[in-house]
Parts: sequence; C-alpha cells; structure tokens
Amino acid sequence: MSEPTEIAPASGRLGVLTPGMGAVATTLYAGVFAARRGYQPPIGSLTQMGHIRLGKRTEGRNPPIAEFVPLADLDDLVFGGWDPYSDDAYTAAMKAGVLDTRHLEAVGDELRAIKPMPAVFSPEWVSRLDGVDHVKEGSSKRELAEAVMADIDRFRAEHECDRLVMVWTGSTEAYRHPSESHLSLDAFRRGLEANDPAIAPSQIYAYAALEMGIPFANGAPNVTVDVPAMVELATLRGVPIAGKDFKTGQTLLKTIIAPGLKARLLGVKGWFSTNILGNRDGEVLDDPDNFRSKEVSKLGVLEQILQPELYPDLYGDVYHKVRINYYPPRGDDKEGWDNIDLFGWMGYPMQLKIDFLCKDSILAAPLALDLALFLDLAARAGRSGIQEWLSFYFKSPQVAEGLYPENDLFIQLKKLKNNLRYLMGEDLITHLGVEYYE
Ligand SMILES: NC(=O)c1ccc[n+]([C@@H]2O[C@H](COP(=O)([O-])OP(=O)(O)OC[C@H]3O[C@@H](n4cnc5c(N)ncnc54)[C@H](O)[C@@H]3O)[C@@H](O)[C@H]2O)c1
Repeated sequence: MSEPTEIAPASGRLGVLTPGMGAVATTLYAGVFAARRGYQPPIGSLTQMGHIRLGKRTEGRNPPIAEFVPLADLDDLVFGGWDPYSDDAYTAAMKAGVLDTRHLEAVGDELRAIKPMPAVFSPEWVSRLDGVDHVKEGSSKRELAEAVMADIDRFRAEHECDRLVMVWTGSTEAYRHPSESHLSLDAFRRGLEANDPAIAPSQIYAYAALEMGIPFANGAPNVTVDVPAMVELATLRGVPIAGKDFKTGQTLLKTIIAPGLKARLLGVKGWFSTNILGNRDGEVLDDPDNFRSKEVSKLGVLEQILQPELYPDLYGDVYHKVRINYYPPRGDDKEGWDNIDLFGWMGYPMQLKIDFLCKDSILAAPLALDLALFLDLAARAGRSGIQEWLSFYFKSPQVAEGLYPENDLFIQLKKLKNNLRYLMGEDLITHLGVEYYE
C-alpha cells in the first residue's frame, strides 16, 4: 500500500462553468437537477453509480466510488455558462429537443435561472450558426480573455462558489494547425495581444480559466488545451486539464469492439462507420472544416488499438472510413452504422454489422458530470497538467508528448480506478490472481 495523498475536503459549493449551453450542457444541468430531487437516477455516471473493488476478491470490499474518494456532492453544484445565443437553459434545452417537456418542466425553474453570459465567438471558427445575438466585443483577444475572467469573478461571488471547474461543451471549432502562438506561454500571451487569428475562442476561455487556477476539460475535438502553451500554463498555475472530445456513440462502441477482436487475434480488412444526426452539432459538423476536427479525433482510435505495426498480417491494411451526415428529422437521436469486414482462421472472411440508435447527449451528459467532479478532485489532490487517467472519457485522450494515447475502454477504466486507489493509498489491482492458489 502507498501513502494516501493529502486531499483538501470537498466542502462548499462547486461552480461548473460550460462555454456552450446547447444539447449536452442543458442535458447535464437537467439531469443533475432531476437526480438531486430524486426524480431520475444519474445513469451512466461512474462517480454517481460506480463501485470500486478494493483489496482481494475474497475481502468483499466494493464501496461506491462517491464514498471512496471525497467528491463534491451533487447538492453543492451550481451551473453557469456562455453562449452566443441568449436563450436561458430551459429554452435552449427545448430547442435542443433531447429531453421530453415533462422532464424539463419538472426542473424548469432551475433551468430558467441559468442565463448565458455573452460568448467569445467568431464565425470563422464555427460558421454554421446563424443569427447569434449574444457575443462579447473587445479590441483584442487579451481583452476578451479579461472579460471572461471578469464573468468568472462575478459568477463566483454571486453564487458563493468555493471552487470552480470549466468544461467546454461548445460547438466543434474548425480544424486549424497550431501556430507559433501555441508553442509557448509567452508566445500565446503575445498572440492574444496581437489578435493572432490562429487563437480559437475555446482557447480564450481556457486561458482565462487556467490563469485563474480553474481546471479545464474539453468535450469537443478542437485542440484547445492540447498545445504546449496551455500545458505550460496549466503546469505553471498547478491546474489539471483533460481532453479531448467526449467518447460517446460510435467511437465508444468502437473502443469496446476493437479490443475484443484484437484479443482474439481476428483480422480486420475494413471498418466503415457512418452516422446520421440532426441536432445543431450535426449541422456544425456538416461543414467540412469542422468535420475535419472530428475526423482527426475519430480516426486515430482504431489505429492505436489495433497496432498494425505489431500485427501487420491482421491489421496492416485496414480501410477505415468515418462519415457524419446531417439529417434534420432525427434531431439528437443519432443512428450510427458500422460495417466491419473481418477475417479468421485460414483467412475466411466474416462481417459484423452494428446499428446503434443512440441519444448523443444522453450519453455525453454523465461524462461531463464525471469530468467536472474528477477534475475538482484532482485539483484538491494537488495534481496539475494533463490528467491522463481521465482518458476513459475521451475519443482522443490528451497525453504527454511522445506518449501514444490509450484508447481501449477497459484499459482506460483500469487506469482510472487504479488512480483512485493510488490517491487513497489502497493496493493497485493487477488481476494477477496467483495469490488465491498459493
Ligand atoms: N453529444 C455528444 O455525444 C458529444 C460527443 C462528443 C463530443 N461532443 C461535442 O460536444 C460539443 C457540444 O455538443 P452539443 O450536442 O451540445 O452541441 P450543440 O450545438 O447543441 O451545443 C453547442 C453550443 O455551443 C455554442 N457555442 C458555439 N461557439 C461557442 C463559443 N465560442 N462560446 C460559447 N458557446 C459557443 C452554440 O451556440 C451551441 O449552443 C460539440 O463540440 C460536440 O461535438 C458531443
């Protein structure tokens, strides 16, 4: 057993700030309100519903995670956000169309009270949003970052928050190569002053948060904190960061199925994935520039899990294609098809078809909640910089330079749970098992 890490108590209120108050964010708020009133259990949330095994299997110690590590209580959460549309969370949730009116009505008073702060927004980064009416003005990006910091200060005072975390639930930004400004903190600060067009709105929020010592998680595929300048700032300020792109829907299934095929050494010739969805996210991703960000984060997963360099006969020539199609009639009800051409003993071909009729934001909301709570835990435990143990939640986990990300969902879960055991001074679980037979 290691020494337990000293962790500050989770006392007082935790403010959860979401740049982006669309489908995921409003589903998150509504679900937390419903759970704390006892209307609906927080299904899909590891922090709320998961257990963790401690010690040997014979010991029978399997406490709920929420009792094992000191997490903020749902009753102590308070939500705030920014959006370029001025709709309050109730109206935004109605427009997002994820939850039934009766579920929204049941927590309507709390949702209506969440009004977005004006966004740092630029159509150059998200071009498909029309009629935005709620955007900050500033003569430089530095001024915009300061305006976000002032918003945060106001929010903290108004809601009497002891601690804050920020989770990006805004639209996917266009894919751009990082510029000089992203290479170091000094260069980034100069870039803010000089209005470097390569600095994205999401990075202005992230910069503001990190400067103020607020942990930041990125639920979208845009790079945001996955650049040296932001890692440097997080380390300098002692703040945890994690990203990127919530692992839901098709990629979640891919990282469940692919490790299974590989475990049995079944070969893969092709993997064709296509999606239809009709929410605002789908509309934004219909733009090739924004889709490029998503494609980069979705494609890497398979390659890392299958390791073609180690298994050229099985995975050396996989044709992997990912498509997202905007199809309004479906709203938030995404349908994801996968066709996998695989081969087995003596090269005999087989096919596997998956048709996942999922609800995107229903899958994403519990991840946003867990990330907020775990990042707050990490901060209280004195952890800073990239939190690789939270890879479990991401399609494209952020890791230290030179490391490849771990995408296998089951390895990610083991990593997460071992980190919790380590924090609390419990033995890590290796699944060796010989001790039961000695
Ligand atoms: N739903 C999922 O399962 C899932 C999974 C992985 C990633 N994501 C990502 O999470 C993000 C949110 O998804 P969603 O379904 O809620 O999308 P959404 O379109 O419903 O919500 C995004 C919101 O962000 C706002 N926004 C855009 N630019 C902004 C800015 N600069 N500042 C503040 N707000 C801004 C938009 O106005 C919109 O209200 C997207 O980037 C999406 O790709 C979602």
